[in-house]
Amino acid sequence: MMKKTVVYSVAFALALGLGFSANAMAADKGPADITLQATKDADAKPKPATFPHAKHQEKLACGECHHSKDAAGKQVAFVEGQKIEKCETCHNKAAGMANAKVTTFKDAAHVNCKGCHTEKNVDTKKQLCKLCHK
Ligand code: HEC
Ligand code: HEC
Ligand code: HEC
Ligand code: HEC
Repeated sequence: MMKKTVVYSVAFALALGLGFSANAMAADKGPADITLQATKDADAKPKPATFPHAKHQEKLACGECHHSKDAAGKQVAFVEGQKIEKCETCHNKAAGMANAKVTTFKDAAHVNCKGCHTEKNVDTKKQLCKLCHK
């Protein structure tokens, strides 16, 4: 009897939690598919990248990719409701990142995208660059 009640309350809490996050996400999830292209620090030869945003949102938390910065220029972890800006707003040469590995959009994207793909064994060797750069 007790056990059943506990199970029901957990299920109820979960349902509530999911309901809330679904609502918050419905607020602004951004485009379902994005073609990423640097505009500030673009190389001579443009390399647009295909990014299935919605597909990533199905399995990953927003904070795996999105974050902000404080007045001192330090990275601030993602929290629900945080203003989401384009990566290049902060990751461009003129803005001057303390971490030189993520100065440009290309660098920030490669560290973020490829880092996770390597971690999760997504990037098949034969696709290499073509997975994103069609
Ligand atoms: C997981 C996705 C992904 C893979 C794999 C990937 N890239 Fe990228 N790449 C991006 C994203 C996102 C950008 C940012 C868009 C931009 O800079 O225009 C980018 C940017 C670039 C740029 C800069 C283009 C510009 O406009 O300044 C170059 C050059 C580049 N990639 C080369 C490569 C090469 C070469 C490979 C294979 C060794 C590769 N990338 C693999 C996602 C990827
Ligand atoms: C796997 C990485 C990743 C995840 C996970 C992710 N996003 Fe994004 N999102 C991006 C990238 C990359 C862009 C394009 C940013 C740019 O154009 O510089 C973007 C763009 C956006 C934009 C449009 C921003 C603009 O000004 O154009 C919104 C809004 C957004 N995301 C919301 C979300 C929310 C909410 C979640 C979680 C439910 C989420 N994203 C999950 C990577 C991600
Ligand atoms: C509001 C400013 C801002 C925006 C927008 C932003 N970043 Fe960052 N990002 C930072 C700051 C600040 C750091 C810390 C770097 C440092 O200490 O020099 C950072 C660090 C990083 C790092 C290295 C540390 C880590 O978390 O792995 C990566 C990778 C990264 N950003 C990718 C992205 C991507 C991809 C986007 C777009 C989806 C994005 N950033 C959007 C400000 C921003
Ligand atoms: C935190 C982890 C993570 C990050 C960050 C991430 N990805 Fe992915 N990506 C995945 C996973 C997991 C898959 C495999 C999804 C699947 O097959 O269901 C994937 C698949 C893909 C695919 C292939 C989709 C398909 O339909 O086959 C592309 C293209 C891609 N990612 C581009 C990007 C780009 C561009 C970025 C950076 C802006 C990025 N990813 C950042 C985890 C990530």
